[in-house]
Amino acid sequence: MYVEMRHVNKTFDGFHASRDVSFGIEKGHMAALLGPSGSGKTTILRMIAGLDRPDSGDILINGVRVNDLQGSKRGIGFVFQNYALFRYMTVADNIAFGLQVQKKGKAEIKERVEELLELISMQDFGKRYPHQLSGGQRQRVAFARALAPKPQLLLLDEPFAAIDAKVRGELRTWLRNMIGRVGITSIFVTHDQEEAMEVANAILIINEGSIEQIGTPEEICRHPKTEFVADFIDAKRFEALMALRG
Ligand SMILES: Nc1ncnc2c1ncn2[C@@H]1O[C@H](COP(=O)(O)OP(=O)(O)OP(=O)(O)O)[C@@H](O)[C@H]1O
Ligand SMILES: [Mg+2]
Repeated sequence: MYVEMRHVNKTFDGFHASRDVSFGIEKGHMAALLGPSGSGKTTILRMIAGLDRPDSGDILINGVRVNDLQGSKRGIGFVFQNYALFRYMTVADNIAFGLQVQKKGKAEIKERVEELLELISMQDFGKRYPHQLSGGQRQRVAFARALAPKPQLLLLDEPFAAIDAKVRGELRTWLRNMIGRVGITSIFVTHDQEEAMEVANAILIINEGSIEQIGTPEEICRHPKTEFVADFIDAKRFEALMALRG
């Protein structure tokens, strides 16, 4: 397992945001966290990223316990909805940000930024500012910024929530291909079940701070383990999706 949580608990002023959360995600897999609003999805990502500390339990990355390791040293990239691009920096400077923090050399930064601009098909956008981009382009830049320091793990918290349905579908496909190409392990939060079913190798269903079930989209949809999962999952949509794929 590349990322693991073992019996993690987290409370905020007595409110249980994570209850005995345990799961593992294999290297190179893309896992989706699905659950109602307030169920504790962001809390899990924040603890993995080192932005919050668990009250108890362990977090492991590549077999190493990272509870006491600073977030910036965990080799994680993240694209959070509320972690927008830096408005007063160009696209290129946004992408270079993590590399500047790591005090990489000028030439190396320039080369890596060019590589990433190419990866997101925005070679000619380096000098633009975020307000000169579309929502979808901005999210691609946010993605490039997260990938620049070559993280081993990518966390995405509803990266496409603010984008309209059509562009979102395109971005979703783009992201899946991109993640496949880079071969990075990733966890993403979404409200969109279809998005989860289409993109993820593993789905984690979370409710009131507890993991209800972990499994492949097929396992979750065809063999829900709890009443909550059976209720929550739109199995018909999954079957329709499967039929479309043939
Ligand atoms: N810093 C905090 N202080 C107090 N309570 C918090 C804090 N962060 C989260 N919570 C509470 O913990 C619970 C889980 O929050 P979390 O943000 O993880 O939910 P979520 O599943 O990401 O929801 P959404 O889908 O709406 O983003 C919520 O009830 C929230 O109010
Ligand atoms: Mg959230």
